[in-house]
Amino acid sequence: MITDYNLPDNIVDILNANKREDDDTFQELIRQGGYVPPHINLLIDAISALSMGKNILLKGPTGAGKTKFAETLSSLFHQPMFSINCSVDLDAESLMGFKTLAYQDEKQKIEFVPGPVTSAMNDGTFLYIDEINMAKPETLPLINGVLDYRRTITNPFTNEIITAEKGFNVIAAINEGYVGTVPLNEALKNRFIVIDVPYIEGEDLKQLIESNTKLTDKTTIDLFVTLSTDLIRAVYQGKLAEDAASIRALLDACDLSAIIPPKRAILRSIVDKLDEEREREFVKNLADTLF
Ligand SMILES: Nc1ncnc2c1ncn2[C@@H]1O[C@H](COP(=O)(O)OP(=O)(O)OP(=O)(O)O)[C@@H](O)[C@H]1O
Ligand SMILES: [Mg+2]
Repeated sequence: MITDYNLPDNIVDILNANKREDDDTFQELIRQGGYVPPHINLLIDAISALSMGKNILLKGPTGAGKTKFAETLSSLFHQPMFSINCSVDLDAESLMGFKTLAYQDEKQKIEFVPGPVTSAMNDGTFLYIDEINMAKPETLPLINGVLDYRRTITNPFTNEIITAEKGFNVIAAINEGYVGTVPLNEALKNRFIVIDVPYIEGEDLKQLIESNTKLTDKTTIDLFVTLSTDLIRAVYQGKLAEDAASIRALLDACDLSAIIPPKRAILRSIVDKLDEEREREFVKNLADTLF
């Protein structure tokens, strides 16, 4: 795994100054790193913003490593990270928690089970909000409150006012252009430092394939790097849907190619996920010319 980023001294100092002290709470939520940045500035900017308590928004296509990037920040800051996935059925309870009946000395009492937002704020950890543009309009005011610079919200279920502990930080991700997503509401976007997360290419991608997949054959790895560049170009030119260039799918194809022929691996991992025949033919032709 890639852990040595050669960060500038001032950024290493910032990380050391903001690292969470070792305690036993939520150790299992400290994530594993491994993100390979297309440029070191992505990491520098994210670390700088988080160290100042600013929210960051990772914006990029599917399979570009946004979640991996957030996990890497959790690992670098040694901060546990709660996470929320903003599907359409995300409601206030799945953010804040819920009330339930519990027993104490055989007596019934109402207990509040904290959700990811309350836990992250009370414990001063990171909070990852995935696909934040998928949140329902009714849920947005709650999320806006969490992002507010005052870092204070009222828990609608207990009426308790929660002020975030030091260390609380929000990292959100959006997949712009993804089917089913709505453009990010301006008030929401306004509360973030935005970091574009593009697909990695060339040497960086080669390094990632070597360290993260079962494929070892150098020539085949080079061909996959070329295939990825061609796919990304075709997406930019509008010839292919965005997910055709997903690094996630490419890594799957590389893994399978350690056992089965690359062309079949590409078929299973990339081609057969595309909706239009024209697109499938396009990628098959690309694979035929390379492999
Ligand atoms: N730059 C990168 N560095 C490290 N891993 C990467 C990178 N790009 C893609 N990957 C790998 O590709 C896979 C998908 O990455 P990840 O889940 O972080 O993407 P994502 O941008 O969050 O996608 P989605 O929008 O679909 O949630 C993971 O296995 C991840 O390790
Ligand atoms: Mg993700």
